[in-house]
Amino acid sequence: MTAYSYAAELETYEQANPRSAARFAAAQEVLAGGNSRLTAYFAPFPFYVDRAAGGMLYDIDGNARLDFYNNATSLILGHANPQVTAALIAQAEKGTAYANPTQPEVELAALLTQRIPSVERLRFTNSGTEGVALAIQAARAYTGKPKIAKVEGAYHGTSDAVSISVGTDLSRAGAADAPQPVPSSGGVTAHTLADVVILPFNNPAAARRIIAQHQDELAAVILEPVLAGIGYVPADTEFLEAVREACDGEHTLLIYDEVQTFRMSPGGMQEAVGIIPDMTCLGKIIGGGLAVGAMGGRAEVMTVFDATQGSPVIPHGGTFNANPMTMQAGLATMRQLTPEVYDRINEHGTILRHQLDEIARHYHAPLSVTGTASFFGLQCTDQPIRDYRSAQGQDPVLRQKLFLHFLNHGIYIANKNVGNVSAIMGRDELERFVAVWEGFIQKLN
Ligand SMILES: Cc1ncc(COP(=O)(O)O)c(C=O)c1O
Repeated sequence: MTAYSYAAELETYEQANPRSAARFAAAQEVLAGGNSRLTAYFAPFPFYVDRAAGGMLYDIDGNARLDFYNNATSLILGHANPQVTAALIAQAEKGTAYANPTQPEVELAALLTQRIPSVERLRFTNSGTEGVALAIQAARAYTGKPKIAKVEGAYHGTSDAVSISVGTDLSRAGAADAPQPVPSSGGVTAHTLADVVILPFNNPAAARRIIAQHQDELAAVILEPVLAGIGYVPADTEFLEAVREACDGEHTLLIYDEVQTFRMSPGGMQEAVGIIPDMTCLGKIIGGGLAVGAMGGRAEVMTVFDATQGSPVIPHGGTFNANPMTMQAGLATMRQLTPEVYDRINEHGTILRHQLDEIARHYHAPLSVTGTASFFGLQCTDQPIRDYRSAQGQDPVLRQKLFLHFLNHGIYIANKNVGNVSAIMGRDELERFVAVWEGFIQKLN
């Protein structure tokens, strides 16, 4: 066998995607960095989608790829779901946005509050980023305290307060059980940094200690109950219990960011584990493929937005918040998400991870698979991954080769080598995925 190089994978990709290469070159002349969204970029250039249907993406060079990314987990029913499309067409004919509340807004809120244990009242936004920023603001307003705690390695969108210790440079991040906040973006002020405390994931003792240390100042702890950025590693029950108890003792609100994990069950991860936060952030699937976010919580906390009794504590606006297109697409999606659908995608996720793992073991490959429910992470290590630090140190070239190998064999995953299963996918799609993984491992041997 010829040596398996990154250059070979790159060349195959470049040869199959000349139109996308040209489009990206043109894009760089008019868009900063060539796009509007970091995750839409990967080296050497992203492919440009012409159309999508069900589980497939079709690009402008005529390549067809199975979509195991699903617009960053948001398309839980796959692309162009007929009921969602019909709902959008019907709404478009009635107008796309008004400066008034609408019936579908109330209906989607009713559905979500009924399903999510912690959410008695909610508000819609246009992105998960906004939902998170608003939840943090609400926690600060409600408690009168300035600081928040977040988990090392957790991504909560791009607002200032959470652009800290996401992709952390560990040389500046302190001890594993007492992580220091490190900006993950330019433009984060020292003041913002000083208001953020970092918790190590899945370390209950450290979490208790750090929350107690900052008790007088801590408005909220925000966490993803499954740490997506390191390959969908779930929080241990003991960790969630410890954080819940520590918050209870300190008049600190616990916020779950369920922007992604809400695709795990009708009531999200909180329902699955039975450890309930005070507030929840949402996004992705609840918009049925359109831009969306939301945050909600106990009715008492959410009174900070109430304008019926005079000026609200938080005057929250937004031209396109809860616009009827998003609400209709969200409703058409959420109504199709019966418990059976969740069971099916979660079972498919479990089967996929199991088969990938078996193949890696069979070939004694230095690879492994993480994930839970419909999520998976392909790891270029065979060491256990429990938190941000144990996920570091993987060979970056091998990780890129893996990503390009999948692309070159008709499968799209996120370029961090994570993905998810949608409801439109069946055993055939899973088998194709497994075969491409096996092909990659054979090339390594
Ligand atoms: C856990 C989590 N929180 C927040 C966000 C931000 O959502 P959005 O991209 O809609 O702003 C994301 C997006 O990927 C996310 O995964």
